[in-house]
Amino acid sequence: MPIIIGALREAAPRETRVSLVPEVAEKFIRAGARILLERGAGERANFPDSAYRGVEWSDAAGVLAQADVLLTVQPLAAAQIGSLKAGAVLVGFLQPHARREEILALQRAGATSFAMELVPRISRAQSMDALSSQAAVAGYKAVLIAADHLQKFLPMLTTAAGTIRPAQVLVIGAGVAGLQAIATARRLGAMVEAYDVRSATREQVKSLGAKFLDTGVSAEGTGGYARELTEAERRSQQEALDARIAAADALISTAAVPGRPAPKIILRGALERMRPGSVIVDLAAEQGGNCELTRPGETVVHRGVQVIGPVNLPAQLAYNASEMYARNLFNFLTPAIRQGALEVDWNDEVFAQSCLTHAGEIRHEPTRKAITG
Ligand code: NAI
Repeated sequence: MPIIIGALREAAPRETRVSLVPEVAEKFIRAGARILLERGAGERANFPDSAYRGVEWSDAAGVLAQADVLLTVQPLAAAQIGSLKAGAVLVGFLQPHARREEILALQRAGATSFAMELVPRISRAQSMDALSSQAAVAGYKAVLIAADHLQKFLPMLTTAAGTIRPAQVLVIGAGVAGLQAIATARRLGAMVEAYDVRSATREQVKSLGAKFLDTGVSAEGTGGYARELTEAERRSQQEALDARIAAADALISTAAVPGRPAPKIILRGALERMRPGSVIVDLAAEQGGNCELTRPGETVVHRGVQVIGPVNLPAQLAYNASEMYARNLFNFLTPAIRQGALEVDWNDEVFAQSCLTHAGEIRHEPTRKAITG
């Protein structure tokens, strides 16, 4: 019997993405699977039902009850988890840090769940790296939001009415989102400076045509991530950065440390030195913000500076974000699909490390410790 791969119309507020786009549904079908979708699943990402070929349709309850593998963007609600088919496999962003109730529900249901956040960031898994694909979307969109809120051009313009100076953009945190923000701001002609605590980013920033700000602080953590700064490091970073913050027309901040609240880098004092009309787009808003004044989902105006705290930016570019995400899911799952059946190789570090729950256990050690104490 071929496995049934299901996808729902996402229920979370303001989630417009879909976990399965027509192109990827067809690839799964060619790999021997059946596809079962909730009606209207891709509608808000502009993938109408008519765009999907060779798939079957149902309502949410039908998909939950019949899918052997359920693909989601956002975590399922605990009640939905209770309606999953016995032995079902769930794959999606499951927010292991934040979703205690849902993880306990997955454990109770005996479901096998894989969290896309936990896919190891090794070369082989790059094509499955949904954190990266969605961060790239966010970094791109952040610059467009900043441009839209500025009363200035980004590029230099030479016109009959004289020359307009290019806008100064500062990007703090040059990970996946930050690098995409730099590239986007450069394409729009802005002067770009960027800063990160990982020294490996220096060359990446320069290769995109931006200037790297050196604060003398280097804070490499494990697995290619940054670690939290000591108080002394934080102070010297602050001294070096504050003048550059004051000079920025647009500031895109993306700094994050895994499993920790976002570092506070743009303090009230620095913000008050910025020119009125400047814009901060704080991509760390959902993790508490890099700016002291950020409020997730809101725009705060303080002394003429707009502090924008976007929530779920990838959903604002739902078509391409869904395409990239669905391809990540396909690349993740295909090694486990053999002649239409699902066989997970638990010796494969990608499956072993991204597994959140299996056979009534919470498999991800840090999550288990956080939940069970
Ligand atoms: P992230 O979202 O966890 O953090 C964003 C950025 O903020 C990081 O570059 C981090 O160094 C920086 N940051 C943290 N604290 C800071 C501070 N106090 N001041 C300034 N910047 C600060 O990171 P993301 O984008 O998820 O990527 C992190 C790492 O993972 C990078 O080394 C990246 O190259 C690596 N990676 C590896 C992949 C692979 O090999 N498959 C794929 C994607 C990323």
